Amino acid sequence: MIARKLCALGSHRVLEPAGALPQAARKLDATPAAHANEILCDVEALNIDSASFRQIVAANAGDAARVAAHVLALVEERGKHHNPVTGSGGMFVGRVREIGEELAAHCDLRVGDRIASLVSLTLTPLRIDAIERIDMATGRIWIRGTAILFETGLYATLPPDFPDDVSLAVLDVAGAPAQVRRLVAPGQTVAILGADGKSGMLACAQARERAGTSGRVVGFGPDATTPGARLLLDEGYVDAFVELDARDALAVLAEIPTVLPELADVTINCVNVAGTELSSILLTKDEGTVYFFSMSTSFTAAALGAEGVGKDVTMIVGNGYAKGHAETALATLRNRPPLMRYFMQRYGSES
Ligand SMILES: NC(=O)c1ccc[n+]([C@@H]2O[C@H](COP(=O)([O-])OP(=O)(O)OC[C@H]3O[C@@H](n4cnc5c(N)ncnc54)[C@H](OP(=O)(O)O)[C@@H]3O)[C@@H](O)[C@H]2O)c1
Repeated sequence: MIARKLCALGSHRVLEPAGALPQAARKLDATPAAHANEILCDVEALNIDSASFRQIVAANAGDAARVAAHVLALVEERGKHHNPVTGSGGMFVGRVREIGEELAAHCDLRVGDRIASLVSLTLTPLRIDAIERIDMATGRIWIRGTAILFETGLYATLPPDFPDDVSLAVLDVAGAPAQVRRLVAPGQTVAILGADGKSGMLACAQARERAGTSGRVVGFGPDATTPGARLLLDEGYVDAFVELDARDALAVLAEIPTVLPELADVTINCVNVAGTELSSILLTKDEGTVYFFSMSTSFTAAALGAEGVGKDVTMIVGNGYAKGHAETALATLRNRPPLMRYFMQRYGSES
């Protein structure tokens, strides 16, 4: 390991380019030994961010062996799972192996604790010794390897009442339901794109609670007959689920008078494909808010798109972190048994 001054943000692990912080770096040093201000974990599984996994799967024609080789090569090259195409990563579940001596006294973790990282794999030094299995449906990858958490790195101890795989799925997108609670007020109209995905379903449930029965929540997605879309309707988390391709802004525009004539006070974008900025903007009222949780969001497409259609909307970048977000996301399921059952079935190991 190269000797550098230890930094709370992990810059001492940056190999290239000099002066960068870990997220912006091209390459990190993933040597599996904890510095005084780090935590070393044995990694059991990665939850690859949905936009990233979808891109990697497409680039490898859906072949699991090629996906594994791709991920191995990417992590070997960069010392982290940072997809250069989507710019996104994911998070990991693992067991604490070593706690650096400066952290040991005031850290609430002990060697042997099992945790989920709540910071992105795009800034987490990661080494993969072997890939054991890939779930092509969920983007879960079971590995043997190690990761480093920095002094400022966020993590959650795994809740005892959730299977690990479900915790991983929920914690990966924990920022979305927490932000929805902040953004949506009683009586408002809310549009959620990608409503039957992980973050979309949690967002719908929280939007319903916050908007109340005087508000309106409308989910959008490519297929209204999925089990997720049906659950959203059956449980009343959405008032309607509209089938559309959010990449087709003109088609969305044509549908608006029928499906959302009042337009949305708040639009939440939870899709995992590129090119949906304009649909989100068109669905939103003047002076409304668009929250782009999707990692496929382009700043220029959103900024210039809104300007181009003359919409004065507030657009928010989907920070993956919000205070208390892990607890909020887990409680979203705990307080809603049907949603919990759905996540168990869809994202649990037996899926
Ligand atoms: N901001 C953050 O910190 C953060 C953290 C984690 C993840 N993310 C990002 O958040 C997004 C959602 O993640 P997730 O894990 O919830 O993904 P997910 O479970 O894969 O859900 C994605 C949803 O988008 C829908 N979708 C796909 N193509 C669409 C289209 N053309 N029009 C409308 N809907 C479409 C999918 O429908 P089908 O299933 O029918 O295709 C699905 O409902 C991803 O971009 C992910 O990378 C952001």
